[in-house]
Amino acid sequence: MPSNKKTQRPKKTSPVPKSESEIDPERLPRHVAIIMDGNGRWAKLHGYRSRIQGHRAGIKSVEAVVEASAELGIKVLSLYAFSKENWLRPRHEVNMLMRLLAQYMEKEVKRLNKNDIKLVVSGDIDDLPLFVREKVERVIQATVKNQRMTLNLCLSYGSRDEIVRATRLLCQQVLEGRLTPEKITKEVFAQMLYHPELGDPDLLIRTSGEMRVSNFLLWQIAYTEIYITPVLWPDFRREHLVEAILDYQRRERRFGRVIEE
Ligand code: IPE
Ligand code: IPE
Ligand code: MG
Repeated sequence: MPSNKKTQRPKKTSPVPKSESEIDPERLPRHVAIIMDGNGRWAKLHGYRSRIQGHRAGIKSVEAVVEASAELGIKVLSLYAFSKENWLRPRHEVNMLMRLLAQYMEKEVKRLNKNDIKLVVSGDIDDLPLFVREKVERVIQATVKNQRMTLNLCLSYGSRDEIVRATRLLCQQVLEGRLTPEKITKEVFAQMLYHPELGDPDLLIRTSGEMRVSNFLLWQIAYTEIYITPVLWPDFRREHLVEAILDYQRRERRFGRVIEE
């Protein structure tokens, strides 16, 4: 609930929206990953006593960005929704986040199907409370045939955990005599990550101005372009995504090589 002494609505910090027509459809990032950060600060800025109001407002951004991504032609959207480390937050916040997640799943399934979007999850889904896990699994099942875009929701996700898990799977194969250590290449390793079929992100966006990756997709972002915006996640909309894509398209990706004149 908003507190009585609600502060004045702060001025929007968002950059001037650029026209979508400037996007080069031939050079769209295929896979966009987003660290959705700044919900707590947004709530504070808007005079709410609880951070939860920021998480609630953040869901509107998720809905808008998922739909916009599919419409713009992005093939994979990875959203960092809850990290392994986020379990260490106060119990009340964690419980509310779980409830919001369950509500989102219930509400979003229709729109995902309407927009032909498939849901997959990266992370330790077994960590989630049963009432959330069941809802998540239902949406995964209900959207499995959709093809326009894949929404990769990262839940109870930690990249170091993902890498350790991959290592264990490989060790198991070696123990069972199905693999020898010299056959382990980076391609073989990548196959053991949660969703290798999604490929590496081309563009990683982090909202709220923080300059860190917070244990997100460490293996996969080796050559990803990084875009950090001061916009807080609950304020992030289609025009900010467009701005990030335009910035991405102005860059030269060299992958360690020299681009000949
Ligand atoms: C991101 O917003 C949402 C989650 C990590 C679940 P935060 O809750 O981290 O908001 P800030 O960073 O404290 O503003
Ligand atoms: C990263 O944000 C995790 C998610 C967006 C889900 P955090 O707010 O948890 O990261 P730190 O603590 O600022 O690094
Ligand atoms: Mg944060």
